[in-house]
Amino acid sequence: MTLYMPVNDSKPCNKASFSTRIIDWYDKFGRKHLPWQIDKTPYKVWISEIMLQQTQVNTVIPYYLKFMERFPDILSLADAHQDEVLHHWTGLGYYARARNLHKSAQVIRDEYAGMFPTDFEQVVALPGIGRSTAGAILSLSLGQQHAILDGNVKRVLARHGAIEGWPGKKAVENQLWELTDRLTPKAEIEKYNQAMMDIGASICARSRPACSQCPVAIDCRAQLSGRQSEYPGKKPRKIIPEKNAFMLVLTKGEDAKLEKRPPAGIWGGLWCFPEFSSRNALETYLVENNLDSHKSEELPGFRHTFSHFHLDITPIYIRIAPPGDNQIMEDKPSLWYNLHNPPKVGLAAATERILASLGSVLIKE
Ligand code: ADE
Repeated sequence: MTLYMPVNDSKPCNKASFSTRIIDWYDKFGRKHLPWQIDKTPYKVWISEIMLQQTQVNTVIPYYLKFMERFPDILSLADAHQDEVLHHWTGLGYYARARNLHKSAQVIRDEYAGMFPTDFEQVVALPGIGRSTAGAILSLSLGQQHAILDGNVKRVLARHGAIEGWPGKKAVENQLWELTDRLTPKAEIEKYNQAMMDIGASICARSRPACSQCPVAIDCRAQLSGRQSEYPGKKPRKIIPEKNAFMLVLTKGEDAKLEKRPPAGIWGGLWCFPEFSSRNALETYLVENNLDSHKSEELPGFRHTFSHFHLDITPIYIRIAPPGDNQIMEDKPSLWYNLHNPPKVGLAAATERILASLGSVLIKE
């Protein structure tokens, strides 16, 4: 049997002490006053868990507070327009999270009479909620006994157990699930799960982990062999393709013309400058819409990287005089976005970046 040694005790003990040490650490150092930890409900914990995927606690807090002010309960979220939900997500990225939150709220409204389900199988069936998030929501808000395995917990466990391989591989992930299932205690599950996520996010950081502060360092196999940086195993590198996009930045007075992206695909449902795959295609559009007599200016280009390709974006700026946009053909939903009184819609990251740079262009004129 493996022997585990608690940090402040010279006596060896069995694996139950792993969770004891984690819970003791939580009592001393864990965060207990985050906005979603006050008067906890499954709804609050759900929203926070989705925001906390890929985003750090300090970044999430202001978004969470504003979101809750506008959508204080499941019904207000379910009944909102998708544009407004995406608007509250602008800046957080990974917008599929917001679209899924909105869809899930509608499922809960329509199938569960607006009450967040408390059965694991029903929760994990909701759009955007995987096994770990379902476990986190039900354990943190209701004290149900479920193991979790988010990115932070994966790192703690991969290091502690020296689990080889990239956790994106099913076999490695399965091993980590077995480990988290085995170590998760029956009692004080909220503290244990919260502490594991906190330790993963702070002490057991990706680079330069603070092992001297870790309650489970003493029997951490990676720490004992000085190989912390080797766990979890890295994703095999792949070369991703490069694509070009030309974005038409058409302004009129204080307004800039935006189009809504189709629901599926990159930036789905978000608002973007009209995009063309070549300069030629953009110029054809200008001719077709009687805009080719206006002076155009190339704004500084930039790269936006998605998981599966790089997009090199060249914004082409044209200013037209108000009123006139009546000649422009509309084959997609579009709006004139007022720069000084912005409408509540979700913006693609590239749109935000170009809009921010527009400020200086407009000032020069
Ligand atoms: N990441 C995901 N969920 C979290 C939580 N509840 N606390 C801290 N970091 C997290």
